[in-house]
Amino acid sequence: MRHFKDPSIKPSEITDPELYRQRRRFLRLAALGPLAGMLAWTGRVSAKGYGNMPLDYSKSAVYSTDEAQTPYGDVTGYNNFYEFGTDKYSPAEKAGQMTTDPWSVVVEGEVARPGTYALEDILKPHALEERIYRLRCVEGWSMVIPWIGFPLGNLLKRFEPTSKARYVEFTTLNRPEEMPGLRRGVLDWPYTEGLRMDEAMHPLTILAAGLYGEVLPNQNGAPLRLVVPWKYGFKSIKSIVRIRLVEEPPLNTWQQSASNEYGFYANVNPEVDHPRWSQARERRLGEFFKRDTLMFNGYAEQVAHLYKGMDLRKFF
Ligand code: MTE
Repeated sequence: MRHFKDPSIKPSEITDPELYRQRRRFLRLAALGPLAGMLAWTGRVSAKGYGNMPLDYSKSAVYSTDEAQTPYGDVTGYNNFYEFGTDKYSPAEKAGQMTTDPWSVVVEGEVARPGTYALEDILKPHALEERIYRLRCVEGWSMVIPWIGFPLGNLLKRFEPTSKARYVEFTTLNRPEEMPGLRRGVLDWPYTEGLRMDEAMHPLTILAAGLYGEVLPNQNGAPLRLVVPWKYGFKSIKSIVRIRLVEEPPLNTWQQSASNEYGFYANVNPEVDHPRWSQARERRLGEFFKRDTLMFNGYAEQVAHLYKGMDLRKFF
């Protein structure tokens, strides 16, 4: 198994994140011409956070929103990561204890090429992109986050799913000595999530390895987490150590804990309330007034066809 430390990169070659932000602000201004949508910029990100694996990425115009991005401090300081406690501030405080290097992911189930893959081998063949996505938490707040990642479908294809692979199940790291929340029985650990195969293969579904021009901070699910922007945030499972392709729908952690409140699909839907609160509106972090929640979190054009003919009150 190889590690991420790349001795060929001198510290002087690694760009300071603040310099990055300045450069990106400039580029955004420079891009206000007719070619704006076509401008792709490639950046190199310092590997602050785990090892020294550089992440080269381009900016996706196709899959990004131009809404204001949620401040970095909120994205990395107000989190749900119950393995580090149930309040929003514990993950930022405690997730630093989690060891993310070395990291590997077990791939198993209905695939021709199962195995244990080192993080580097997972990431290397893929072109990374910055995509600015909305994330709507089931609890009623939302953020706009510049992720760095690649389509999950491209990874799954490498493992050659069999014809029986109809769902994908993901599992988070389960290491109580580094994750104090695991010592409490608030959820049935380890945290698991699942997607239907067509959802997993959808080009909007990504595995993220970074955000805001840096590798993922631990509290955001380092070193690899799922991001499914049209679903409630709890589907976007963090710190993934296992990907299993299966025939039957996997039981996700939140469904297991309260199946009347959380379903398998968890598509953002302002018309279907949570049994204890309305889902019609949301508070964007950093904003004072609430705004309307959009069907499929604003991604209806891209994903509504996946659920054609389904009763979304029943399959919530
Ligand atoms: N993944 C794990 N393993 N444990 C968690 O508690 N919380 C989920 C999701 N992924 C969670 C998780 C919820 S409820 C949300 S809203 C998002 O992570 C929050 O992601 P963020 O902290 O990066 O904004």
